[in-house]
Amino acid sequence: QTEIVKIERIKEQKEDLQRAGEILRQGGLVAFPTETVYGLGANGLDGDACAKIYDAKGRPSDNPLILHVANRSMVDQIAAVIPPMAEKLMAAFCPGPITLILKRRSIVPDRITGGLDTVGIRMPENDVARAMIKEAGVPVAAPSANISGRPSPTTAESVARDMDGRIPLILDGGACRFGVESTIVDCTGGKAVILRPGAVTREMLAELLGEENVTLDPALVGEKVVPKAPGMKYTHYAPKAPMTLIEGMPTRMARAFQREIERLQAQGHTVGVVASHEVLQDLKGVVAEDLMADYGHQQDLPAIAANIYEALRSFDDKPADVLLGEGTASDGLGLAIMNRLHKASGFRTIKA
Ligand code: TXA
Ligand code: MG
Repeated sequence: QTEIVKIERIKEQKEDLQRAGEILRQGGLVAFPTETVYGLGANGLDGDACAKIYDAKGRPSDNPLILHVANRSMVDQIAAVIPPMAEKLMAAFCPGPITLILKRRSIVPDRITGGLDTVGIRMPENDVARAMIKEAGVPVAAPSANISGRPSPTTAESVARDMDGRIPLILDGGACRFGVESTIVDCTGGKAVILRPGAVTREMLAELLGEENVTLDPALVGEKVVPKAPGMKYTHYAPKAPMTLIEGMPTRMARAFQREIERLQAQGHTVGVVASHEVLQDLKGVVAEDLMADYGHQQDLPAIAANIYEALRSFDDKPADVLLGEGTASDGLGLAIMNRLHKASGFRTIKA
């Protein structure tokens, strides 16, 4: 049986956090909140404990895990070299929603690196996560706490939906602030390479390191090459019903949705819509209220990022057999949102 423990006051709930730390040290799994998405944690220095993560998620074993640390000395424990670029990134963005790919030390179990000589390191800002890692006393390996392929969970309820009965403990720290996974930056070459976009945006990285020192992994810009983050090649974030993304001018969105909805309804489909407040306003009467999921206001990218996964998951319980999603701008935080929406829709798109 899975126990869900609400953590509201860290200082007064020392015992709950100690118990989480103890489960981790003894080789068990604990799901916990971070500022990005919920993680499914295990002792990152114990290969057998980490193997349980792959079982619980149904994750392919060649997909490496990132290690979560509470302080700099844990970084030095697992990274062999820390190049100047990584020092700058840590000074600017850690703790925070960023994962650095660095050369690893041999203390990092082979089981979790998928055969690579590098390791992903992330220092979360969320205080429940930090307190838990400190109690564990070891780096905590953690992927997102969803069944492999599903949208990542940003609430404890969504973790429970996927993990109930598979793990002993979920720490409930409320909804995650950013709602999309960390920005992954490969620091092992001459330039900083973004392997997965996130809340630390390309623009923020360029401002810190210089435009010429930041690039996107070619796989992110549609080139047919194998992505450098192994996990980026798998189907991801998929809602239960197949989704098509409508992208283009915000002013043309509502009309494009209406045409596509009417076409699908004429074919006998029950259509669900994941879109902005503005577009859904215009679709009243075209789609029933309970087949709509509002992801926030059209221009409010932080809200859209925070809501997107729960909006996709809300269709788990709805009768829609096809979904239409609304694309956002693709600069700033929009790059991360559009990356997740493209994957969630299997790259099926319509131009508005
Ligand atoms: O925000 C996050 O990063 C969340 C929270 C829980 O911290 N975690 C997360 O983990 O998103 P996961 O496992 O769902 O995604 C990690 C990604 C995968 O695509 C994996 O292939 C990639 O990081 N990755 C891990 N180690 C790597 C490495 N050494 N080189 C390149 N990519 C790596
Ligand atoms: Mg994941």
